[in-house]
Amino acid sequence: MTAQPLSNPSQLIIRNSSEQMSCLDHLLVVGLPGDQLVPHLLSDGVGRITALTRDFSDWCRLQCQLEQYRQRFSLTFAPTLSGEFTQQVDGVLLFLQKSKQLIDFWLAMVLSILPAGVPVWLVGENDEGIKSWKKRLQRCFGGVRSIDNARHCVLLEARDPLSQVGFDPNQWLETFTAGDDAKIYSLPGVFSHGRLDKGTGVLLETLDSPPSGKVLDFGCGAGVICAHIHALGGNCDFTLVDCDALALASSERTMQNAGCQSFNVMPGDGLPEVNDIYDLIISNPPFHQGVKTNYAVTEQFLAQSRRLLRPGGELRIVANSFLRYPPIIEQAFGHCQTLLVRDGFSVYRAMRRS
Ligand SMILES: C[S@@+](CC[C@H](N)C(=O)[O-])C[C@H]1O[C@@H](n2cnc3c(N)ncnc32)[C@H](O)[C@@H]1O
Repeated sequence: MTAQPLSNPSQLIIRNSSEQMSCLDHLLVVGLPGDQLVPHLLSDGVGRITALTRDFSDWCRLQCQLEQYRQRFSLTFAPTLSGEFTQQVDGVLLFLQKSKQLIDFWLAMVLSILPAGVPVWLVGENDEGIKSWKKRLQRCFGGVRSIDNARHCVLLEARDPLSQVGFDPNQWLETFTAGDDAKIYSLPGVFSHGRLDKGTGVLLETLDSPPSGKVLDFGCGAGVICAHIHALGGNCDFTLVDCDALALASSERTMQNAGCQSFNVMPGDGLPEVNDIYDLIISNPPFHQGVKTNYAVTEQFLAQSRRLLRPGGELRIVANSFLRYPPIIEQAFGHCQTLLVRDGFSVYRAMRRS
C-alpha cells in the first residue's frame, strides 16, 4: 500500500506542530486524513494520538502503514467516539469536512468531553470554507484566533467553551420519506443528508414490484434504496455497503426502524470485502472524490458486480446520464438496457445470463 502524499491541511499542521503541539501528552484527532501526518506529530514530541476517521479506506491504509506506532497511536473507524471514551486529552485537532453540519456535530461531541483549558484546533482548506469558521467557532468558544495561513489553508485555535452539554448522536439524526412509506434516518455528513436525492428518486420509480432474494446495495448512504424495497413488501435479505462510517450508522438505524429482520451493514472500499452471491445488485454509485469526478470506484464496481450475481441475477444502477457507464456495463455483461431517463438521470439494467 503506497503512502498518500501529505494533504495541504496536514502540511500546515506540521509547520505549526513544534510550537503548538510538541508538549502534548495526548492529542485527539477527529477526521484524520489518510496521509502520514501521525509519524510527523509523534516525532515532533506528541506523546500519543487517539484518532477517529469516517473513511474506511483511510482506516485500512493507516492501520497497516502505522502498525509500528500502535503503542502510541490508535485509530477508530466510527461516526463518533464511543461512549467509553473517557481518557483525558490535552489537545484536540479537528479536520474540516465539506459538510458544515458534520463539523457542528463533531464539535458538539468534542465539547461534551473537553477538559477545561484544552485547546481545539480546526484546520481546513480555503475552498472548503475554513474562513467562515472563525465566526462560527465564536458561537461556542470564548477565545478564537487564527494561528497560521498557508498552502491555501487556515489553522484556527479555540479555547474556553461557552457551555458544555452532553452529546447524544441520536439527536442529530434527520428523517425523510422515500417512496410512499420508507422512513430514512441520516446523520450529518451522509450523502443527501435529510432529503431524497433526485437520482435515487428516479431509481426508486423503476422499483414498482418488490424484488425477492439476496439484495446488495453498493454505496448505501442512509439506506434509502433497501428501506424502499423493504417497504414494498419484498422478502429480501439485504447487504448494505459503504465506505463512510456515518452512512453505515444511518443505514443501520434506517433498517432497524423499518423493522427489517434480515440485513447486514458492511464497511467496504469498493466490493473486495463482499463474497456472497446476490439476486439483485442495486446502486446509486459514487462518482465524486472531493470536488473532482472520479470514475475509478464505480468502474471497478461495475466490472466486478457480475461475479457477485447468480445466473439470472440483475444489476440495476442510476447515474447522471452524461456519465459513460453503458459501455462498461456492456463490457462486463454483454448488454445494457436503459429502463428510464428522467431529469438528467438514467437507470440502467443488466442481467447475468450464464
Ligand atoms: C451517490 S451516493 C448514494 C447513497 C445512497 N445509496 C442514496 O441513494 O442516497 C454514493 C455512496 O457511495 C459511498 N462511497 C463512495 N466511495 C465508496 C467506496 N469506495 N466504497 C464504498 N462506498 C463508497 C458514499 O459514501 C455514498 O454514500
